[in-house]
Amino acid sequence: MSIEIDLSSDVAVVTGGGSGIGEAIAMLLAEAGARVAIADLSEQAAKSVAEQITGKGGRAIGVGLDIADPDSVVRGLGVVREQLGPVSVLVNNAATWVIKKFSATTAEDTQRIVDVTLVGTINVMRAALPDLLDTQGRIVNIASDSARTGEHSMSVYAGAKAGVIAVTKSLAKEVGGKGVRANVVAPGTTVTPGSSAFIEQVGGADKLARAYPLGRLGTPADIAGAVLFLVSPLSTWITGQVLSVSGGFTML
Ligand SMILES: NC(=O)c1ccc[n+]([C@@H]2O[C@H](COP(=O)([O-])OP(=O)(O)OC[C@H]3O[C@@H](n4cnc5c(N)ncnc54)[C@H](O)[C@@H]3O)[C@@H](O)[C@H]2O)c1
Repeated sequence: MSIEIDLSSDVAVVTGGGSGIGEAIAMLLAEAGARVAIADLSEQAAKSVAEQITGKGGRAIGVGLDIADPDSVVRGLGVVREQLGPVSVLVNNAATWVIKKFSATTAEDTQRIVDVTLVGTINVMRAALPDLLDTQGRIVNIASDSARTGEHSMSVYAGAKAGVIAVTKSLAKEVGGKGVRANVVAPGTTVTPGSSAFIEQVGGADKLARAYPLGRLGTPADIAGAVLFLVSPLSTWITGQVLSVSGGFTML
């Protein structure tokens, strides 16, 4: 007996899909048959991931957009709709952060972190919502366990991610009756281009991994698997939840 996850009737948007966790999510959703739009600040990175997918026989496009800019988001989703169809799966993965003590975090740092990580996620949900309501779609927002445990030198980021969790739960309550599900995946430290500075600062991957019950840091594929589950028919009675994917580091 085998189980197949078939997303061939879905159009998925993955923000920040040009690198790290987002790239792995885009690849896995495409492997499950979804038409995938990789939406990234770097149009070049987005197109390069899309090319990898089309090279393997999948259907994907790369779109350059800044999630912090509502007009850019509306334009980008217009391209997705035109080229792939209405969005039925939204993965809000793009975020930004600085690694600085609270006392060193400037007003500019704060504004950009909140504008991208929290407001950007909201911008994309707002622009995609009409499609998601039409398609009985699914949203997965990538937060961080730092939102629930706190994180040294990442306080504003942790606060913005806590906002992502609260908005996701609230939206899940509003749209559940219309058949739309919204959940959060909260990764622990996952080895990506974006996390290398953090891993270095806390003493390297080997040292950090010792704090993880499963004995290693995460891979982008670990996070992508959880996202696939939450957008698949295996999770049709799950909404408004925060799934920690962290090798047991965070047990809440
Ligand atoms: N890597 C980790 O240890 C870790 C842990 C917890 C949570 N997360 C979360 O996982 C997600 C992905 O992290 P990653 O480590 O893969 O990061 P990454 O830096 O490797 O990739 C992030 C991608 O987002 C894009 N991006 C940044 N700002 C954008 C914007 N304004 N508009 C559109 N795209 C934008 C970047 O161009 C990049 O391609 C983030 O939400 C992050 O907060 C990561």
